[in-house]
Amino acid sequence: MDWGLKNRLSSIIKPQNNRALMLAVDHGYFLGPTEKLEDPKKVIAPLLKHCDSLMVTRGVQRASVSATADTPMVLRVSGGSSIIGEDLSQEDITVSIEDAIRLNASALAMSIFVGSKYEYQTIVNLGKLVSEAEKYGIPVLAVTAVGKELGKDARYLSLACRVAAEQGAHIVKTYYCDNFEKVVQSCPVPIIVAGGKKIPERDALQLTYNAIKAGAVGVDMGRNIWQSEHPVPMIKAARAIIHGNLNVDQAFKLYKKLVSEEPKKKPQNNPNQKKSNNKKKPQNNPNQKKSNNKKKPQNNPNQKKSNKPNNPNQNKPNPTKK
Ligand code: 5RP
Repeated sequence: MDWGLKNRLSSIIKPQNNRALMLAVDHGYFLGPTEKLEDPKKVIAPLLKHCDSLMVTRGVQRASVSATADTPMVLRVSGGSSIIGEDLSQEDITVSIEDAIRLNASALAMSIFVGSKYEYQTIVNLGKLVSEAEKYGIPVLAVTAVGKELGKDARYLSLACRVAAEQGAHIVKTYYCDNFEKVVQSCPVPIIVAGGKKIPERDALQLTYNAIKAGAVGVDMGRNIWQSEHPVPMIKAARAIIHGNLNVDQAFKLYKKLVSEEPKKKPQNNPNQKKSNNKKKPQNNPNQKKSNNKKKPQNNPNQKKSNKPNNPNQNKPNPTKK
């Protein structure tokens, strides 16, 4: 393995403990503005210093990540289908090696869809990408995509991970499952585990712990971090398992402590309510005054009193006070 490739790989999987915490924010490449990732810049900024590497598309890297960041970038280079299209497995390589180098990618990432209609295309693309990336000492991470029609058990994932490794992938990203040790044991390159759909925080920490215990180098987690109500405490707790060897109870305790120490977010409605109250008061008062002022010269005080309940226009401002 060339020095450059080893060096890049060691920035993703830390050599001191052979562990990795990757933050995944590439979901938009087929999902569009994923819930709680609508503004990637805001999401990424507070989390960046807590992950070992960031899995990102070139569009989000350029638009939403500071070029002064020293976090290694794992650049997704595959795409071509969207969640509303016909077949998610119809992916191709969408980023040139030259652009990946311009973006200073520490690794390239692409999905393979083993067992799907387009498995041939995606597996051949992986082989070609590895050949191209190795010329420049850039490692490749293969994502074993899962879908409705694809399995998510140890048998299927072992097959998919092994296929990826045989094509030369330097890291394989896959999903956690029962008997995950079997998946790890039959894959000759490091395995990193995706977080999957949002689950309760303790469960996501349990998944992280289990994945490592089964032999994965770490997690490439997205939704279970930035869809949490407390993304920074969550990533710190996951980090404490991966790099601090905490167990699940300890990590969840840490998560709760960090949550309790976060500056309390004031309920978003209060400031608006105040504003709207403030707005309403001046709106209604001048009107009332105006109508009173108009009446003053016309009527004497006795007439004013008698007009109040009978005049339907005087009742109009009241609903706006609600
Ligand atoms: C999609 C991906 C995502 O990066 C991956 O799913 C990780 O994110 P999450 O933890 O939200 O599952 O590669 O193909």
